[in-house]
Amino acid sequence: MHNAAFAALGLNWRYLAFEVNPKNLRAAIEGAKAMNFAGINLTVPHKLLALEMVDELDISAKVWGAVNTIKFVQSPKSKVQSPIGFNTDADAIAQSLREDLKIKLRGAKVLLLGAGGAGKTAALKLAAENVAELFLVNRTKSKAEAIAAEIKKQFPSVTISTDFPESNVDLILNATSLGLNPGDPSPLDESQFSLKQTRAVYDMIYRPAETKLLAAAKKSGCKTANGLGMLLHQGAKAFEIWTGKPAPLDVMRKALESAVQSPKPKA
Ligand code: ATR
Repeated sequence: MHNAAFAALGLNWRYLAFEVNPKNLRAAIEGAKAMNFAGINLTVPHKLLALEMVDELDISAKVWGAVNTIKFVQSPKSKVQSPIGFNTDADAIAQSLREDLKIKLRGAKVLLLGAGGAGKTAALKLAAENVAELFLVNRTKSKAEAIAAEIKKQFPSVTISTDFPESNVDLILNATSLGLNPGDPSPLDESQFSLKQTRAVYDMIYRPAETKLLAAAKKSGCKTANGLGMLLHQGAKAFEIWTGKPAPLDVMRKALESAVQSPKPKA
């Protein structure tokens, strides 16, 4: 989507993917800086590690506690490039939930599955959007409890629990990685909470386009959306940070849709 956007704007820029072992992340950022890269996107498992590896954190990275976008900025005095960390995921989640599911977050009851990097960002963003009740369920309960404690401190008006809800919710949001691989079970244990008890289901996974969770949710009559909208909007915001130009959203959406429909490239 970025290369399509660069082409649409006539920019002689390229977006490339590199697989980096987490132990080499610092060296990779230094290398990109030495090669005068404009910026970087980071994904699993680098988003939390990078917090310590940039010279400055933009308010977005501070608030959401993770870095998914770096911009190299030339300091006015020296010619040295300095990496600044941003987070474009959080706003993208809220934007996609609104656009793709027409969810009104203020006052909503949400069951959020997963308390890894993506789950944490989603939990904080939902709390900041004034959801009424947040149920943060994770295989490793202690991780959900740590996030719940942070939310209680920062957003005391949000009722937060780390157990399954006892009544209906407006939204189930999957932020676990379950569903990425074909053999994965659904991230929702339906003996604990039924899909009949929600109006909408969002899965942050976008490949496959329809996970087991989304297929079951559709069958059960829920409104559903996958993570493509979130991917689009975090990318568009990163594009704007790097280039300073408005992102050509339609061009990016089209490129993204055709990319995710094509066979998955080998890692
Ligand atoms: P991301 O940055 O994408 O959130 P992550 O930080 O590795 O990646 O988090 C993965 C999430 O998927 C976690 O919530 C993880 O649960 P744990 O915290 O218990 O590890 C969840 N997850 C991954 N595999 C799982 C599985 N087999 N069953 C249940 N949850 C799983």
